[in-house]
Amino acid sequence: MDILNKIQRHREEEEGLKWEGTFADYLEILRERPEVAQTAHARIYNMIKDAGVEEKDGKKRYRFFEDQIFGLEDALERLVEEYFHSAARRLDVKKRILLLMGPVSGGKSTIVTMLKRGLEKYSRTDQGAVYAIKGCPMHEDPLHLIPQHLRHDFYQEYGVRVEGNLSPLNMMRLEQEYGGRIEDVLVERIVLSEDRRVGVGTFSPSDPKSQDIADLTGSIDFSTIAEYGSESDPRAYRFDGELNKANRGLMEFQEMLKCDEKFLWHLLSLTQEGNFKAGRFALISADEMIVAHTNEAEYKSFIANKKNEALHSRIIVMPIPYNLKVSEEERIYEKMIKESDIGDVHIAPHALKIAAIFTVLTRLKESKKNGVDALKKLKLYDGQSVEGFNAQDVEELKKEFSDEGMEGIDPRYVINRISSAIIRKDLSAINALDVLRSIKDGLGQHASISEDDKERYLNFISTARKEYDEIAKKEVQKAFVYSYEESAKTLMDNYLDNVEAYCNKNKLRDPLTGEEMNPDEKLMRSIEEQIGISENAKKAFREEILIRISAYARKGKKFDYNSHERLREAIQKKLFADLKDVVKITTSTKIPDENQLKKINNVIERLINEHGYNSVSANDLLRYVGSLLNR
Ligand SMILES: Nc1ncnc2c1ncn2[C@@H]1O[C@H](COP(=O)(O)OP(=O)(O)O)[C@@H](O)[C@H]1O
Ligand SMILES: [Mg+2]
Repeated sequence: MDILNKIQRHREEEEGLKWEGTFADYLEILRERPEVAQTAHARIYNMIKDAGVEEKDGKKRYRFFEDQIFGLEDALERLVEEYFHSAARRLDVKKRILLLMGPVSGGKSTIVTMLKRGLEKYSRTDQGAVYAIKGCPMHEDPLHLIPQHLRHDFYQEYGVRVEGNLSPLNMMRLEQEYGGRIEDVLVERIVLSEDRRVGVGTFSPSDPKSQDIADLTGSIDFSTIAEYGSESDPRAYRFDGELNKANRGLMEFQEMLKCDEKFLWHLLSLTQEGNFKAGRFALISADEMIVAHTNEAEYKSFIANKKNEALHSRIIVMPIPYNLKVSEEERIYEKMIKESDIGDVHIAPHALKIAAIFTVLTRLKESKKNGVDALKKLKLYDGQSVEGFNAQDVEELKKEFSDEGMEGIDPRYVINRISSAIIRKDLSAINALDVLRSIKDGLGQHASISEDDKERYLNFISTARKEYDEIAKKEVQKAFVYSYEESAKTLMDNYLDNVEAYCNKNKLRDPLTGEEMNPDEKLMRSIEEQIGISENAKKAFREEILIRISAYARKGKKFDYNSHERLREAIQKKLFADLKDVVKITTSTKIPDENQLKKINNVIERLINEHGYNSVSANDLLRYVGSLLNR
């Protein structure tokens, strides 16, 4: 579908969402679908729930966060259950400001943004639909129209509890425009949108001296005072503060703890009592969730300040630590790279994993449990099996520190180092070593890393590097396996021919020239030595093999590569030893011979076709493994 068609369809969709009717009509809708009257907190909770909840090993996983937030399942479960769920049920936490606390670049803003974008979408669905008094700048809840003394009756009839008072503006409109006839007041469906400032807002403090509370609660419109005659006429007031605009939805409060106290008190009144003071009016009721975020240091200094004591009990703090699973960290990087402008650079297999190993190591706390080193802990956290440990141990490790993940290297640093390596060297491919090198080079420039930490981090880099060495060696071996079966068979046949000639004191015939040759003692020994057969024991070993072969022949069974355990092991080892040579050759000889070249090319082809390399990264890998084997 081309873009013009899509635009048209979008317009039709928008049209389809429109609804307008009287308050009486609205009550009809409410009777059918009571969820239209849910509180902002309940709507947010239901939005998360409706996206799907999976329960695994007694833990909840929310599909809502699934493709953007990785590795924070426990923190999210706590956030959703302890805050959103309880607040949705009007429990006391609803009356507190939600403060996400965690280290820099740990996903706090991402979570809040997801809630905002999610709410915008959800308000376009049937389950998430929101209705408001038409023409109200705060999109006030129509149920506020119901007079206090009738609310109990309303609850009896509709099962819906009404909180909050009709705002001064709508009170006046009710009298003047509708002659007091509540049932005639026009109601419309609204679609939440941060861009249009409907139900979703962001407040970020500017210079504390110059910031005006009006940014939060609106202000008098002096140009209209003359028209309405008084400052206390609600029509002369602009209800366009962030708190006004975010009514019915969610407001993000950035840098809340940096904010002047007077701003905080407004928020507290709003969360605590469901209303705030604006202009010269009676309190204005609003229904919105306030989410703020901060880092640990800022939070601690806030707590330490006696002046803020009264505020503590009115804030609910939810920790959002760094992810501690290597494989999830890789997914974070993949996501961030996809969103960046380095998305088309080839990143060699394992490069992100190795970076993630480093990063997670910087975040883990040293366990006091016996036999648990940093790397083992990292693997256990990632769900890998480590000899001598079980699931129970992992749970215990997690319980050892309640505040793990609040420090360390953030994902953005890693992505910046990857970009910087790519840009600086103008690389078209980047591998694990490039990434580690760049991470290392950047440590000096990282403002918040102490000398002690730097020392530790350098150690982690070398741990990650060692992990990479192992992975790289295995990878090349795997890539060699293509010709492996065939090579193993050829080598064994060759060995057996020689063994037979040796035992029978025969000569061999060169298949090409037809010339007679003595058995190749060097070849046989090179295989036997792999499994520690001494010069004295070689004869017995060779004879034993021949006996085995004839036993097989008598039973009409084929003697093959798997028929003799120790021989197989010897052949295998010999092949890998040869591989070592092959790989060595790629680095040491400038001009490999035809045979070597063929092997190298096979391995490279296999790395590319089956293991995700490109020709640059495959050659890098071979060269590197070659240098490892030469050590
Ligand atoms: N656990 C995580 N899962 C997915 N992405 C993450 C995670 N932690 C950090 N990020 C990514 O790192 C970047 C910084 O995260 P952000 O939400 O701005 O952090 P904060 O607000 O905590 O400083 C974003 O691109 C975000 O997507
Ligand atoms: Mg942020």
